[in-house]
Amino acid sequence: MSIRLPFIKNKQKELSQLTTIDKENTPDHVAIIMDGNGRWAKQRSLPRIAGHKEGVNSVVKVVRAAHQCNIKVLTLYAFSTENWKRPKKEIDFLMKLPKEFLHVHLPELMEKNVRIQTIGDFEALPKHTKDTIQHAMNKTKNNDGLLLNFALNYGSRDEIMHAIKKIMEDVNGAKISIDSLDEQVFSKYLYTRGLSDPDLLIRTSGEQRLSNFLLWQLAYTEFWFTDVLWPDFSEEVFQQAIEEYQQRQRRYGGI
Ligand code: FPP
Repeated sequence: MSIRLPFIKNKQKELSQLTTIDKENTPDHVAIIMDGNGRWAKQRSLPRIAGHKEGVNSVVKVVRAAHQCNIKVLTLYAFSTENWKRPKKEIDFLMKLPKEFLHVHLPELMEKNVRIQTIGDFEALPKHTKDTIQHAMNKTKNNDGLLLNFALNYGSRDEIMHAIKKIMEDVNGAKISIDSLDEQVFSKYLYTRGLSDPDLLIRTSGEQRLSNFLLWQLAYTEFWFTDVLWPDFSEEVFQQAIEEYQQRQRRYGGI
């Protein structure tokens, strides 16, 4: 079954709304917990998958906005290790969304110099999902603009356990010594190796929790919550988040 997605047509209108952002002081790395798709659909007496389908439009909007604001990394929580508990029909639908998104938008991502990457247990994803994403990662690997990082089959505790096991293997194999293990070395064993920690975390839908997302990496991140449901997320909401971030004083435990 093919899924028809009503993608945004009027690009110019959307982008012109971001012109007031101070682009000198934008966060390097923005991470988003895209929440509220199910409630958005329920409010309209639609099946939950209609909310996810509409949520893809918000992904398109936020990628364009992040690109325009010179943000370096955009990490989107698209599927957690806990999301496997959902009904099979919903999981199957979610697993097809990368293909629907990339089929339409890969040319635009190439044109915008966007590189695609994932964090999470990639190998456990269905083959068709992996193949689509692998193709996009190969195609965009030399792009050096915005890094669009999808957290897919991602769970922070799973990531930390995975890192600990690998460290123990490397200690046993004399590849590293326990004495050399510090925060920087540990970070290299995480899925996010090589990425700076998020500067700003956005969560939509009014929930104020982390849901097993980037627990290590969010130690000094600024959090911004909004009641807006993910399918209603817009450039204006993104702009509001960035502007409020720009007012924050980050002290990292100092004074
Ligand atoms: C949480 O809302 C959302 C998800 C588990 C899926 C998020 C996925 C997308 C927005 C699309 C991803 C797009 C690509 C291209 C990979 P929920 O379903 O838990 O909402 P609820 O709390 O209202 O039920």
